[in-house]
Amino acid sequence: MPSKFYFGTNTKRDLDRLSHIEIVKSAIVLSKQHPDVQFFVLPPDPLFGELKTLAAGSNVWIGSQNVTYTTGPNLTGEVSARLLSEVGSDLVMAGHAERRGLGEDGPLVGIQLRKLSDHKVNTLLCIGELEKTDDPKERLQVFKAQMEPLGAIPKNPLMIAYEPVWSIGQSGEAADPIYVAESIKLIRSVLIGLNRSGTAILYGGSVQEENAPFYSVICDGLFVGRSAWVENGFKTVFEAAYKSRSKA
Ligand code: PGA
Repeated sequence: MPSKFYFGTNTKRDLDRLSHIEIVKSAIVLSKQHPDVQFFVLPPDPLFGELKTLAAGSNVWIGSQNVTYTTGPNLTGEVSARLLSEVGSDLVMAGHAERRGLGEDGPLVGIQLRKLSDHKVNTLLCIGELEKTDDPKERLQVFKAQMEPLGAIPKNPLMIAYEPVWSIGQSGEAADPIYVAESIKLIRSVLIGLNRSGTAILYGGSVQEENAPFYSVICDGLFVGRSAWVENGFKTVFEAAYKSRSKA
């Protein structure tokens, strides 16, 4: 089986507290059975402390969905990279499509990456094209632009989540694994150009039990939304992915 595999979920805004606890408990059990897998859960910040305590002593990462890009005078309602580092956030996401959709895009993601790097926070940079396109050159252009800020910051602990925007969420359409494999190759080429060839590339966007076996063999991990939040979903999708990866 290829090297380390990552499996995690960003639980977004609406999932209740008890469901989070169940997901983390499930991740803890799975992590004991699969020491070769790095599990992670990215809850809304109010749940971070409770889930971090629950996961203490296990190999499950508890992280955060965002970090501020603002600078200058102190500002209400923002969370700094320094604080995320101080509380031990294991992985912080930047550039999720839903944040980019709110305008937190382009240079602002660059500022987030810089702040996370300054505080040595493990970072998950989300990238992906808005519309499906069969032209690899168009996709390459998007990936280059979204990863461009990495060239200007010192090397920080980093992973990439490739999430085609058209494939994310309720209105999303599951992507053809061949399309995904092609994109991952393109992303890998950009990473090589940035001297970051060993960077793990995860895949996300309508990942489910049915398609996880196909995606899991073409990338270094899966980043799952809705299908991980239903009862036993986290375990079910993981097991489908892991089984197929073990055979590859
Ligand atoms: P989804 O979400 O699996 O529900 O499409 C993925 C994501 O937004 O990270």
